[in-house]
Amino acid sequence: MSEATEDLQFDSQRVLEKGDGVRFDLPQLGPHATGFLVRFEGRPYAYVNRCAHVPVELDWEHGKFFNITQEYIICATHGAMYAPQTGHCVMGPCIGKHLSVIPVSEKDGTITVHVNQL
Ligand code: FES
Repeated sequence: MSEATEDLQFDSQRVLEKGDGVRFDLPQLGPHATGFLVRFEGRPYAYVNRCAHVPVELDWEHGKFFNITQEYIICATHGAMYAPQTGHCVMGPCIGKHLSVIPVSEKDGTITVHVNQL
C-alpha cells in the first residue's frame, strides 16, 4: 500500500511575479527529483523540474527559470522555451511536448501545490 503524499504549502509572498522560482523536493518521483513554483501574470504555476527534451533540471542557476525577457520558462541545457501558463514547449528541441503540470491553488496568502495529484 502506498502512502498518501502531503500537499505542499508556501507563503504567496515568496513567489513573486516573474521572479525566482521556489524549488521543492518530489521524493515520490525519485531521490533527486524536484519541482518548482513560479508566478506569471498574477497566477502561480508549478511543474516538475525536468525538461521534456532530456530529463535534466531546467534552471540555469538555482531557482532561475525565466528567460531574459521573462516571457518564457527556459531550459538551461539547450534553450527550450516553455509557456509559463501551460508548460507547453513553444520553441526548441522539445517542441510539441510539455512539462509535467502540478496543480496549484492560492487562497488567503497561501499557495498549495497539490503534489498528491501528480
Ligand atoms: S535538455 Fe532541455 S532543451 Fe535539451
